[in-house]
Amino acid sequence: MHPTLSSAKAHHDLLVSLRRTIHQNPELSFQEHKTCKFIQARLSEMGIASRVLANTGVVAHIGSGERCVALRADIDALPIHEESGVAFASQNPGVMHACGHDAHTAMLLGAAKILKEHEDSLSGVIKLIFQPGEELSPGGASIMIREGVLDEPRPEVIFGQHVNPDAPTGNVGFVSGTMMASTDELNWVLHGKSGHAAQPHRASDPILMAAHLITQLQALVSRNINPLESGVLSITTIHGGSATNIIPDTVELSGTLRSMNQEWREWAVLAIGEQSRLVASSPLFKGGRCEFTPVRGYPPLVNNDETTTFARETALTLLGKEHVEPFEPKMWGEDFAFYTHHIPGTFWMLGVRPPELTETPGLHNSKFIIDENALHIGTAMMVTMALARLSS
Ligand code: NI
Repeated sequence: MHPTLSSAKAHHDLLVSLRRTIHQNPELSFQEHKTCKFIQARLSEMGIASRVLANTGVVAHIGSGERCVALRADIDALPIHEESGVAFASQNPGVMHACGHDAHTAMLLGAAKILKEHEDSLSGVIKLIFQPGEELSPGGASIMIREGVLDEPRPEVIFGQHVNPDAPTGNVGFVSGTMMASTDELNWVLHGKSGHAAQPHRASDPILMAAHLITQLQALVSRNINPLESGVLSITTIHGGSATNIIPDTVELSGTLRSMNQEWREWAVLAIGEQSRLVASSPLFKGGRCEFTPVRGYPPLVNNDETTTFARETALTLLGKEHVEPFEPKMWGEDFAFYTHHIPGTFWMLGVRPPELTETPGLHNSKFIIDENALHIGTAMMVTMALARLSS
C-alpha cells in the first residue's frame, strides 16, 4: 500500500469521528457558525492557525515559501429531513448533510493533520479552504474569492473533491475540461387581467400565457443549441389561480437553466427574457405583461487539462489503475467552478458506494449514506495531490 494511503488509513477512527460529529450537527448554507468554530478548534489542536472568511468559512496555511497549492472542502448542509436511519443522524430537524459535505470537511481536516506532520519538508504553502454556502446562490466560493482567499499567497492550482455514491469505494473519477454546468435560476411573473371564467374575452388569461410560454421556451432552447453542446431548461414551479370559475390576475413560474457552454448560457438568458416578454405582450393576451428575473448562479466547472492529467497520474500512483476511472460530465452545478475561472484546478469524484451494494440513494436524497471506508482514501488523495504538486 502507498505510504500516504497507509498513513491516512491509520487515521480512520479520527476521520469517522470527525465526519459523524459534523453529520450530526448540519447547518444550512451561510449559517455554518458551529461548523466554522468546530473546524477552527480542530485545526488549532493540530497547531494550525486559521482565520474566518465569508463569515462562516475558514482558511489556513501549512508551510511557507513562494509556491502554493490550495485544497478546498465545502461545509454546508441541505434543507432535507434525514431519513437515513444511521445512529449518528442529524440532530437538527429538517437539515441534513445529504451531499457529503460532512465527509469533504472531515477529509480535509484529516489531510491537514497529516500535512502538518510533513510541514518541515514542504517546499511551499498548502492553503486549506473550508468553504461555506456551496448549495446556495451566489455560492460561498464567489464570496471567499472576493474576500481574498486566492491572494497572499496566490495558489498555482486548486484541488477539490466530491463524494460519488454511484461509484464504489476505492475508485476516483476524473474528467478533463467541462465537468459540470452553469446554473441560473429563472423567475417569471405573468400579469394578465382577472375575470369570470365564462367570459375570457373580458379578461387576459395568464394561465394560457404560462402554457404558451413553457412550450415556446422549450422550443427556444431545443432549436437554438448545437445538438453536440449541452443546455437544458427545466421549469419546475408554477403557481396561479384559486377557483374553477375565476381567471386569475397572475401566474408565477420558476426554473433552472443549465449549460456547459458559457457563451450559449449568456445568449440563452437574454433570449429567454426577450421571448417571455414577447409572449406576454402578444395580442392574444390584451395588455399582458411579463416580469422576468434571472438570478445568475455558478459558471460551468472546467477542469484544467494540465492539472487534471497531473492529478490523474498522481491518483494512479496512489490507488492503482484499476481504481482510477473516467467520470461522465453532469449537468449538476458546483461552485468550485468559480475557483477554476481564476486559477487552474481539478475537481474529482470519490467513490463512496459500499462494495456490497449495487445502488445507494443519490446525492440530495433523505436516505443518502456513504461508506466511511472511503474517508481515508479521500484524505490520502488530498495529501498526495498537495505533496506531489509542491515537489513537481
Ligand atoms: Ni455537494
